[in-house]
Amino acid sequence: MPILQHPVRPAPRGAGRFRHPSEAPRWHLLGLQGRSRDDILDLLDAADACRVRLRAGGTPFDDLRGVTVVLAFFEDSTRTRVSFELAARHLGATVATLTAAGSSVSKGESLFDTMQNILAMGTDVVVVRHPSSGAPAFLASQLDVSVVNAGDGRHEHPTQGLLDLMTLRDVWNGRFEGRRLALVGDIAHSRVARSAIFGLVALGASVVVAGPNTLLPAEVERLGCTVAPTVDQAMDGADAVMALRLQRERMDSGLLPSTGEFSKVWGITPERVRLMNRDAKVLHPGPMNRGVEVATEVADGERSVILDQVENGVALRCAVLARCVEADVAMRRAQSGDHAGRPGADVAARRLG
Ligand code: NCD
Repeated sequence: MPILQHPVRPAPRGAGRFRHPSEAPRWHLLGLQGRSRDDILDLLDAADACRVRLRAGGTPFDDLRGVTVVLAFFEDSTRTRVSFELAARHLGATVATLTAAGSSVSKGESLFDTMQNILAMGTDVVVVRHPSSGAPAFLASQLDVSVVNAGDGRHEHPTQGLLDLMTLRDVWNGRFEGRRLALVGDIAHSRVARSAIFGLVALGASVVVAGPNTLLPAEVERLGCTVAPTVDQAMDGADAVMALRLQRERMDSGLLPSTGEFSKVWGITPERVRLMNRDAKVLHPGPMNRGVEVATEVADGERSVILDQVENGVALRCAVLARCVEADVAMRRAQSGDHAGRPGADVAARRLG
């Protein structure tokens, strides 16, 4: 039986609960597909402002004081998890982290039951990473909480996509129109690639992908990109290149003869970097296999903005977490005039008011 067939009685206000279909939906960031140019630029502007504040120091701020953020990571992560945690803490939120290993998921509890329990403890925003595409969207449709997708299967990784856009906006002096990104490597298993393509196309840039045929999704052009037969052709005249990790954990066997051959045919070498435009930069979402996707001299070289991406990730996630709370408050206020439901919303409502 579908989960919400029958009306459900809400739990006391402030506690996590099923979302009643008649309720105002909360604000979520589930993907970049279908997001408008203005919406994306608005988030990038907010992230730029956060970066200025973070660089100036004086943290923690109190933008999200009283807001509870749960990081639910059902798949491994370094950058994304730490970056969300730092962002939430910098803004004064209360943060708890749940990982699959060490949680009741390893005892057989379902995702839905686990999250329902987490929400019953009083949670305003949940950041979800999950090996199954669509898991964050499922939770967003069923639970009364703002959901941020931190990477779901091969589907999307919207905050990574946004931090890549933020980095490229700096590299490209604010102009996306007419620019071209080369995306190289394992496109088929990459949620990073999909979010980057959707975001760049929405902003007027173009994307050319290149990689072994076995690692290109069927009908990849339907995502909005073009395909180059070689890495040299993809990078020739490009305004930036982003290398993608070989996602062996998602591969069936036999997709690649060897990493040595991959690196020779598809690796980002200094010679290939010279094929790009003079000011073009090199990106990688990490984790990076040095000497496989990117030569060490390139990764550590002056054209690399890989660590800028990581710095931008914290500011971008500050902006996204703040947007979850602001948008919910604004939406609830517009719908009912009642914005005193949840602790975080209270705080933000006072600030907005
Ligand atoms: C990526 C991911 O997990 O999708 N990493 C990240 O979040 N920075 C890419 C990868 O795992 O290769």
